Amino acid sequence: MAVKIKTLSGYFHEYQKSIVKTEDFWQQQAEDFYWRKKCDCVLDWNFKEPKIEWFKGGKLNITENIFERQMFIRKDQAAIIWEPNDPKEEGVTLSYSELFYKVKQFANVLLSKGVKKGDRVALYMPMIPELAIAMLACARIGAIHSIIFAGFSSTALADRIIDAQAKVVIASDGGFRGNKTTPIKTIVDEAVGKCDSVETLIIKKRTGDQVLMKEGRDFWWDELCENVSAENEAEVMDAEDPLFILYTSGSTGQPKGVLHTTGGYMVYSSYTFRNVFQYSQGDVYFCSADIGWITGHSYIVYGPLLSGATTLMFEGIPTFPDAGRFWDIVEKHQVNQFYTAPTAIRALMAEGNEFVENKKMKSLKVLGTVGEPINEEAWHWYHDHVGKGRCPIVDTWWQTETGGIMISPIAGVTPTKPSYATLPLPGIHPIIVDAEGKELKGNSVEGNLCIKAPWPGMARTIYGDHERFRQTYFSTYQNLYFTGDGVRRDEDGYYRILGRVDDVINVSGHRMGTAEVENAINEHPRVVESAVVGFPHHIKGQGIFAFAVCNDMDETVTEEGIIQSIKVGVNNIIGPIARPDKILIVSGLPKTRSGKIMRRILRKIAAGDFENFGDTSTLLDPAVVEEIINKSKIH
Ligand code: WT7
Repeated sequence: MAVKIKTLSGYFHEYQKSIVKTEDFWQQQAEDFYWRKKCDCVLDWNFKEPKIEWFKGGKLNITENIFERQMFIRKDQAAIIWEPNDPKEEGVTLSYSELFYKVKQFANVLLSKGVKKGDRVALYMPMIPELAIAMLACARIGAIHSIIFAGFSSTALADRIIDAQAKVVIASDGGFRGNKTTPIKTIVDEAVGKCDSVETLIIKKRTGDQVLMKEGRDFWWDELCENVSAENEAEVMDAEDPLFILYTSGSTGQPKGVLHTTGGYMVYSSYTFRNVFQYSQGDVYFCSADIGWITGHSYIVYGPLLSGATTLMFEGIPTFPDAGRFWDIVEKHQVNQFYTAPTAIRALMAEGNEFVENKKMKSLKVLGTVGEPINEEAWHWYHDHVGKGRCPIVDTWWQTETGGIMISPIAGVTPTKPSYATLPLPGIHPIIVDAEGKELKGNSVEGNLCIKAPWPGMARTIYGDHERFRQTYFSTYQNLYFTGDGVRRDEDGYYRILGRVDDVINVSGHRMGTAEVENAINEHPRVVESAVVGFPHHIKGQGIFAFAVCNDMDETVTEEGIIQSIKVGVNNIIGPIARPDKILIVSGLPKTRSGKIMRRILRKIAAGDFENFGDTSTLLDPAVVEEIINKSKIH
């Protein structure tokens, strides 16, 4: 395996090299891997169309790089340690050879169901080993996996299955989460009823709940695997063949199917994993994300397994059976690197120190955070109480679209500063621009974060809608990838992410489009229109605040009743993560004369700040603002 960056001067040296000769740098990283055929061209790109091609003509299979390439040294090493929801249940450890066996076997099952290279397979599963097995089996045969977080509603699931035209859906009977179970199969049935493309459902038994199995369409995972051979030759893929689709929210419209391809993603997820977390052979690495998000794709499955790591997969939630669960897992498995979201840290911090104090966590070497800005208080608590002051914190900034970590300390190498993602990784060229797109050079500047040149892990398109890809990321500023984040570069050249500058809110590290939530609210029969904004929330980072204009407010209904039914509606249309924390029924929204909602004003009101609204001269009806303020003071 390639060498890791070990010193700060080593980092600066590598960074310089990577910026001056980016292609040579990534070609060198690619040499660690097993290519059936070397590429014809390292990089071909322009951000106008945009076209991004890395290692084109190179032939490979990503699972061959996880398994065949490493098998003779890792055969008996643990690949996945699975920790169940209930600590009383026994976990599972799969060695590299056991995981390989299961992946090949399930790949053969998929082939027997007629799945071919390029077909889409939707996965809607709890955090059980079969989720990782299924995704790797897809990659093995060249099918494109689309994993949908199992907290999404059946409507949201159906939208995603339809958009990708998935042929097969892989799910479970149910799922355990804390002391609750979720009726996964029932939700899938509801969704699949609306999806013509789906021919086959494969169901892994987990909770043992009674479920309906439709003859000829639904099959039990375990039955399909019986007596199936584990002889399987990997499908040969081009570096630019799609690996997966992952849906994410934007500021407008339906969620986008972000598409990642094979070769570049492989090189990038693995390079960033090894360097940022400073993984050493024999370490146990634990990322608490769900595989339904990009963090799970890149830093539970692909990055770690490509690097020969032992990756821990946790089915449950941080507060079950109590708020010490993460630390029990760290103690039990002697975890060396731990990666989680600021929301989880804040929630556990609020439960008090007794859950973390007496745990034996000397094994910990590195702590990581991802998904949202981390406030200083949470950073210090994490550093002092979890890391006992010994462990560097890597505050990793990246996005679904970037495929892997972009701006982050390298553990133990880059001096950290609370709430700073610090410096770009090698090969990454961030630039800060003002609203007009003018580059803000030098230090102590604040503006919009863009990336100047391609990196291997970046998304290639939005599935089925390349124009939307161009429009969303490459049209705001010419020849730049626009992240949607505001950023500050301080006097030391360190980057501090300030949060989204578009109509996207970040709730517990999950991205939500305000338009998406508004559309769900507007489905309510009494709602005429609505506006959704984020507001500061002490645990979630941002909460969801909805202003709704309703008609027919007669004696048959109460405001409270409508508010409750709007919440239920949003739950059903998107899922619990989109449920508004606060809803205010108002008689009108503040609009400009041209009819545009003045969200700036609503954001201030939602934050409880009722003064200094700035320029309100374009406001159509100032009385509306007065009314909203008065009402929100009462509620
Ligand atoms: C958005 C991307 C990347 C995996 C999880 C989220 C925010 C991400 C940080 C960080 C401040 C962060 C940004 C970004 N974000 N990491 N370390 N500090 N903000 O992926 O759902 O695609 O969301 O999350 O606003 O644009 P995602």
